Order: sequence, then C-alpha cells, then structure tokens
Amino acid sequence: MKAEIAVPAGAPHSRILGVGAYRPRRIVDNAEVCRHIDSSDEWIRTRTGIVTRRWAEPDETLGVMAEQAAAKAVAAAGITPQDITCVIAATFTHLMQTPAVATEIADRLGATNAAGFDISAGCAGFVHGVALASDTVRARGGHVLVVGVERMTDILDLTDRSTAFIFGDGAGAVVVGPSETPGIGPVVWGADGSQADAIRQSVPWDALRDNPGQPFPALRQDGQRVFRWAVYEMAKVARQALDAAGIGPGDLDAFIPHQANERIIDSMTRSMELPDRVAVAKDIVTSGNTSGASIPLAMEAVLSSGAAASGDTALLLGYGAGLSYAALVATLP
Ligand SMILES: CC(C)(COP(=O)(O)OP(=O)(O)OC[C@H]1O[C@@H](n2cnc3c(N)ncnc32)[C@H](O)[C@@H]1OP(=O)(O)O)[C@@H](O)C(=O)NCCC(=O)NCCS
Repeated sequence: MKAEIAVPAGAPHSRILGVGAYRPRRIVDNAEVCRHIDSSDEWIRTRTGIVTRRWAEPDETLGVMAEQAAAKAVAAAGITPQDITCVIAATFTHLMQTPAVATEIADRLGATNAAGFDISAGCAGFVHGVALASDTVRARGGHVLVVGVERMTDILDLTDRSTAFIFGDGAGAVVVGPSETPGIGPVVWGADGSQADAIRQSVPWDALRDNPGQPFPALRQDGQRVFRWAVYEMAKVARQALDAAGIGPGDLDAFIPHQANERIIDSMTRSMELPDRVAVAKDIVTSGNTSGASIPLAMEAVLSSGAAASGDTALLLGYGAGLSYAALVATLP
C-alpha cells in the first residue's frame, strides 16, 4: 500500500485584511506630457479622464515602492511581516528577467517565512494574484501579500502619441488571509491570445542583444482595438463574476475596475446598470493607468476618500495585455 500524502489544513474562507498604497512623489500634468507629443490637455482629459499622473524618480524603484505599499497593508491587516507565507508580485515592468521582484519585496519587508514569485498578466495581474492568494489561503492557511507595482515610465516611449499620456507609476498591496465567512468570490478569468499583439513590447530583448544600436524596447498598443474589446467584452465578464458570487449589481457597494480610461469605466458602469449609490473608482484622474498597480491603488483611494467603507462588497475587474482578464467580488478591508 502506498503511503498517504499529508495535506495542510486550509482556512474555511479567505478575505482581504488590509490594503496599502505608494504614490510616487512627482506629479506630472498633461502640459508636461504634451512637450513630447502633439496633443493637448483638453484632448487627454476628454479622451481618457486623466488630469495628472505620478512618475517615479530613480530612487523610487519597484522594490522601494512595493515595500512602502506592502508595509501599510501589513499594518492595516494587523499582522507582522513574519506572518506572511507568500508574496505575489503582479508586474510587467521588472526589467530583470530573474530573480522575481517578489523575493526582493519579501526581503525588504522582513517577510522571512514567505515564498515569493511574480506573475505576468499585464493590467489584469493584480486580480490574478488575489485569486491565487485566496485559493492558497483556503488550501493551506497563512497570509498572502499581493502587490501590484509598476514603473511604466521605464518602458514608455515619451514620443509615442498612443501611450505616452496614459501611463503612470506606483504600487498598491493587499494582505489576503483566513476568514470564518466568505470574503472573496470565485474568479472569472481568461485570455484572448489571438489579440496578443494589441498591447505588446515593441521587440523582444534578444533583438536588442543582436542589434545593440536600436532603441530600448517600449510598450506599444493599438488603443482603439483595446478600447473596443474592453467595452464589449469586459461588461460580460463583470456580470459573470457577479453571477459566480451569487449576487446582482444592486448588491454591490463599490466597483473597482482597472483604471485604463475613464470612458471605458463609464461605459461598463452603464452596461452593468449599476445603481447610482455604487461607488465607482476613478483613481485614473490623478494616477493615470498604472497597469498592475491600478486596482489596489484605486481600492485604497475609494476607502480613504470615504466613498466606500470596510465591509463593503466590491467588484474588482482587471484586463489588459494578453489580452487577459480576471474579475471577482470581494469584501473590502
Ligand atoms: C488611446 C486612446 C485614448 C485613443 O483614443 P481614441 O479615441 O481611440 O483615439 P483614436 O486613435 O481613434 O484617434 C482619434 C483622433 O485623435 C487623434 N489622436 C490620437 N492620439 C492623440 C493624442 N495623443 N493627442 C491628440 N490627438 C490624438 C487621432 O489622430 C485622431 O484624429 P482624427 O480624428 O483627426 O483622425 C483610446 O483608444 C484608449 O484609451 N484605448 C484603450 C487603451 C488602454 O487602456 N490601454 C491600456 C490597456 S489596459
């Protein structure tokens, strides 16, 4: 007879216990962006909702920003760094192919008992991370730190009229831990790889190795294609996530989608027929699109502004490069 493999006792349920944010010091307005592209403050505001964004300075590295956000999330969760069993970093602007930035974040925090790995799912990465964290806690207990952190400016071409004005830098983090009652619903996730070229790095790293003279690879996107896909497909995904959690739009207190474009957020809000009383996160106005960091930053903003409160029911919806997406319902910390 074969030996039986022991498995850990998981938690009955999982929940987000704390959130923290780090916004880089430097505020960049549309006039500054327009120094490099033929555009205007009015065009950028009308087409995207963005008024300002934060751009990180050299000392505000991924590790530094993530540590600041994570330390706040850990304190808010009422745990210590040693209680963290796993660090998941959602990022696609970590310019070292290896090691994962999550291991640096764990070390900076003093999370000496934690595993650490990065996930690459573009702007959908953070919600992928929360889903993995939730399942990990329910399977084996512990506390999982999920950090969304980006220095989009490291991969931006400031002269590219289709990307330069959209993106910003920053970090947001949550701690996911055990709960007696359900606090994180099932994830609805997927990807349409047939449209992978709609958001992409201009050339792979080996092209730079083989042709050292060529420009540093930058982020490129087909903005209109991404816009159409997000407006038509993501409202369906939002409804599927509500169905999976067994609730309707009227049960929501907050909607915290990826902050890609204010017009996309407004369109999704209309097609989901969200009641007016639902707080809709609009952190994009002052943060721009911070990719993997946008949802935890927006979560921190709706909570600190008082638009939503601890214990509220929120829909989180991330989407972007891949084209990938992930949505779930969660109780706010
Ligand atoms: C990028 C985005 C703001 C562009 O807006 P848009 O309305 O689709 O703009 P279009 O490309 O259709 O161009 C419309 C007009 O604006 C002009 N335009 C394009 N970029 C411009 C800029 N930066 N400034 C001023 N005018 C611009 C175009 O030349 C065009 O002019 P025309 O009508 O005279 O031909 C929009 O497509 C978008 O937000 N897409 C989603 C991108 C995104 O969120 N990506 C991240 C994924 S998570």
